[in-house]
Amino acid sequence: MNGPEQAAQVAHGDAVLAQMLAHRSVRRFADMVVPDGDVERAVAAAQRAATSHLVQSYALLRVRSPQTRARIAELAGGQAHVREAGAFFVVLGDQHRHRLVLEAAKVPYCASLEPFLVSVIDAALFAQNLTLAFEALGYGTCYIGGLRNEPAALDRLLGTPEGAFALFGLCVGVPAERPEALPRLPVGAVLFEERYPSAPELAQGIAAYDRAFGAYQERVRGKSGRTWTQQVLRLFGAPQRPSLAAHYLAKGADLR
Ligand SMILES: Cc1cc2nc3c(=O)[nH]c(=O)nc-3n(C[C@H](O)[C@H](O)[C@H](O)COP(=O)(O)O)c2cc1C
Repeated sequence: MNGPEQAAQVAHGDAVLAQMLAHRSVRRFADMVVPDGDVERAVAAAQRAATSHLVQSYALLRVRSPQTRARIAELAGGQAHVREAGAFFVVLGDQHRHRLVLEAAKVPYCASLEPFLVSVIDAALFAQNLTLAFEALGYGTCYIGGLRNEPAALDRLLGTPEGAFALFGLCVGVPAERPEALPRLPVGAVLFEERYPSAPELAQGIAAYDRAFGAYQERVRGKSGRTWTQQVLRLFGAPQRPSLAAHYLAKGADLR
């Protein structure tokens, strides 16, 4: 690479990282539909995500019907942004098309934890690429894990077959808000060298983050005494969506 090419590459890299650093979830949207052309461009870019053995174990379902979106908003615990975003998608881990390939060849599909994990990993990599692509086009986004609240009802609504696992939703639209960015754990609390750190070392990162998180909650939301630790306790001190495993098993997954 010559000097000007290198400078252009650095400037491009800086712009990409600046866009990534500008991410925040958007939950209020202008009343504008996301055009099909933008969706197709974003999906084509997102499909460049690396994918285990090229299996591309994911699918994206756009939901346009206001009635269906209203029902999904309800199933997700009353999340208005599911109804109001310019576009709403459901991201699926998808082994169904692989199953069809095997069925046509009269070979039984061999379910195990590995293909299930692959579908979840592939779908997440695709979805995050998709999110970045939409953000690069100027849209705001918000994932919707709430649609795993009632997975059987959701599957009936969307007609998802065996081997297709609805994982989360994605709201996309022209932003009508610009929330302040939520702080993350310090880089040193997630980037380790050579060996996984000891519990006391990890505790330092958690304490530093509790302070940053608390300051954010106080300054932006006017709530004092909040910590990330409390949030973790609330989440992981009780079983979450305990019926999910049975649901995925019923859809043809094998989690062993
Ligand atoms: C898989 C996944 C599921 C999520 N589910 C929801 C959801 O149901 N509703 C919502 O408003 N935000 C949801 N979020 C957004 C997170 O709350 C948000 O990313 C997190 O609080 C960090 O905020 P930020 O994205 O603004 O930085 C989800 C995020 C992810 C990655």
